[in-house]
Order: sequence, then structure tokens, then C-alpha cells
Amino acid sequence: MPKNNNKDLDTILPILPEISLDASMNFSTPVYWGVQDKDRKQFDKLMAEAKSLVTPGFFFGDNLFTWARNNSFLEDIPFKKAWEANLANASDSAIIWRRYILACSAYHCLHLSGDFTEFGVYTGTGIKTVLDYLGGTKFPKTFWGYDTFDSNPVEGHEFSEQKEGFFEKVQTRFQDYPQVKLIKGFVPDSFELGVPDSIAYMHIDLNNYKGEIAVLDSLFERVVIGGIIILDDYEWSGFYREQKQKEDQWFDKRGYRIFPLPTGQGLIIKR
Ligand SMILES: C[S@@+](CC[C@H](N)C(=O)[O-])C[C@H]1O[C@@H](n2cnc3c(N)ncnc32)[C@H](O)[C@@H]1O
Repeated sequence: MPKNNNKDLDTILPILPEISLDASMNFSTPVYWGVQDKDRKQFDKLMAEAKSLVTPGFFFGDNLFTWARNNSFLEDIPFKKAWEANLANASDSAIIWRRYILACSAYHCLHLSGDFTEFGVYTGTGIKTVLDYLGGTKFPKTFWGYDTFDSNPVEGHEFSEQKEGFFEKVQTRFQDYPQVKLIKGFVPDSFELGVPDSIAYMHIDLNNYKGEIAVLDSLFERVVIGGIIILDDYEWSGFYREQKQKEDQWFDKRGYRIFPLPTGQGLIIKR
């Protein structure tokens, strides 16, 4: 039975493997943030004990500890392959659940009209994981990525690779993907260089509310009905809390509630 009116999509969309009812998947990584215990020995010891005491199906990493879960991202083998093939640093390995939220959102958005967008690209792993899950070089949509690349306008958030030549390195990663348009420059000024007419998928990950609200002010109207917006930092506290405050106000004025995800992301479905 064809899954879609668009037959081309059927050739691109990954097949979800059958799962066995008696399987359980654990995931654990030493990558997490915000722990008081500086050398982490005490914390790691406590968490090792906690993991040994819970029902299988635990997840530990990216500041999440859950158990008795399916950890679905580990059994969607095409996703797992795309995730593994694109790991660029330790953080990427920890944020598998966040990546799967992107991948599932992107799967949905492929069925809509409109382009794909990411605001805050850094190394491009978020974009490339989605592309490689959904057809790789045959991904059928234009994917726009916006970043300053060679510098980081958010104080205290600079990555060591962000210096001259970094943009070219990220471009090289996408040399076989002509559907990817990387736009270098400060958001929203760089929108002068081009924006999509309509948008199905919008991943906003700029680590500051000013840039993120500027994206929404400029482009929310272009998101199609059913399109998905993912706010990477919405549900993180502390430094990131101002994003929640400003984004809640922005969406509340328009009659939306942001879905707060346990991954730390926020999700909105356009209607
Ligand atoms: C956390 S990283 C993005 C990670 C990426 N989305 C991923 O999934 O791997 C945030 C990026 O936002 C960029 N950035 C922050 N504010 C910006 C702005 N106003 N204009 C352009 N880029 C910006 C930084 O240069 C940085 O590369």
C-alpha cells in the first residue's frame, strides 16, 4: 500500500524496523551539564547505582534520567545510522533524543509544502542527521541553514572551531547536498541574502532570545499549516530561561502554547 500521494516520497522515507516485544534498550553517556560535584565522581557513582536499581529501558545523558522507556531512537535503525554517521563531538553523542525529535518532526514536514530551515547551524550536524535519515543526497526539499559560522555573537557560547575558515569547513560537509543553502551572517540581518517563501520545518537554536524572536517576527507567517517549529533551548532553566519567558509571551499573544519536551526542547505545530 503506498503511504503517500507522492510516490517519490515512498522511495525516500526510511522503513521502520519490526521490534521484538521482549527487547529493552538502555542508553547512557557521561555527557551532561550543571552538576555541582566538580570531578563528578560522587555523581557518577550515584547514577551508576541508580541505573542498577531501575527497570531496564533507562536513558541517562543530556541532563535526562528516565527508565522503563522504549528509547525508540535506538530501534529506528535508519535514524541510528544517520545519527552515528554524523557525530562531530561529545555533545552530539549525548543529544540523541533531541535529534530524534528533529528527525520525527522532519519526517512529518516532508509531507507538507515548504522548505526546511535551521537557525543556528554550528557544525551542521542537526541538518545532516535529518538529511541522512530522510534520503541523504536525495532529500527532496531545500534546506536553509543560517549562522555567523566564523564567530559567535552570543557571549560565553563561542565554540573553539568558530574562527576564519570554519564556514568553508561546514560547506565541505554539504558538498554532495546541493539542496542545502548555508547563509553566513548575523540573524536577522542575513535574511537580506535570502529566505524561503514558505517553510515546513523550522529548527531554532541560537542560544539567545533576541535572535530567536527575530526569526519568529520575520518568518513565522511563512510557516505552512501543520508545519513544525522546534526551539532547542526552550525548556532549559538558568541562562536559557529568558528564552522561555520571551517565547511564551510571543506565542501566547498569537494563541499558542509551546509543548515543553523532556529533552529541553519546545515544540509548536502551526495551525
Ligand atoms: C548551539 S549552536 C547550533 C547547533 C546546531 N543547531 C546543531 O543542532 O548542531 C548555536 C549557533 O547559533 C549561532 N548564532 C547565535 N546567534 C546568532 C545570530 N544572531 N545570527 C547567526 N548565528 C547565530 C552561533 O554562531 C552558533 O553556531
